[in-house]
Amino acid sequence: MITKRMEKALNAQINKEFYSAYLYLSISAYCNKLGMPGCEHWFRIQHDEEIIHMTKMFDYVMQHGGEARLFKIDEPPADFGSVLGAFEASQKHERFITESINELLNVAVEEKDHATQVFLQWFITEQVEEEANVKEIVDRLKMVGDNGGALMMIDDKLSQRSPPAPATANV
Ligand code: FEO
Repeated sequence: MITKRMEKALNAQINKEFYSAYLYLSISAYCNKLGMPGCEHWFRIQHDEEIIHMTKMFDYVMQHGGEARLFKIDEPPADFGSVLGAFEASQKHERFITESINELLNVAVEEKDHATQVFLQWFITEQVEEEANVKEIVDRLKMVGDNGGALMMIDDKLSQRSPPAPATANV
């Protein structure tokens, strides 16, 4: 059974995961506008991953005796200035989410909630991977600058991203 404080913190994170999905769907539309189908595909999968994150947390709250709550989702930006700007927006957002997950873990420790601490380990590991993935792309985009051929090659590579594995059972 999770405490009311833990429930409130997890519900706030559910909203942030929904916003993440919304943001990445918006970026995928922006990439479509730029004519970069590989980037569009990459962000579409990123959106799908965020829905999985949200669902894992939503289910966890209910499985542990809490009340899952859904709040209003903020409107994401629609223009990111450039494809590099789009990935930098994603990088900035993932850093924010990492801080948010770390803060959730702090709450779980303070509440002496061992089950939630174990549950959150998956998200801690996931954030390391998410930050590393987006950093690699940002670094490459910075390296190629305005080189159209190199940008096309990056776009082609991003088109090969596989869909996420379905959500697995929670602890
Ligand atoms: Fe749910 Fe991209 O963090």
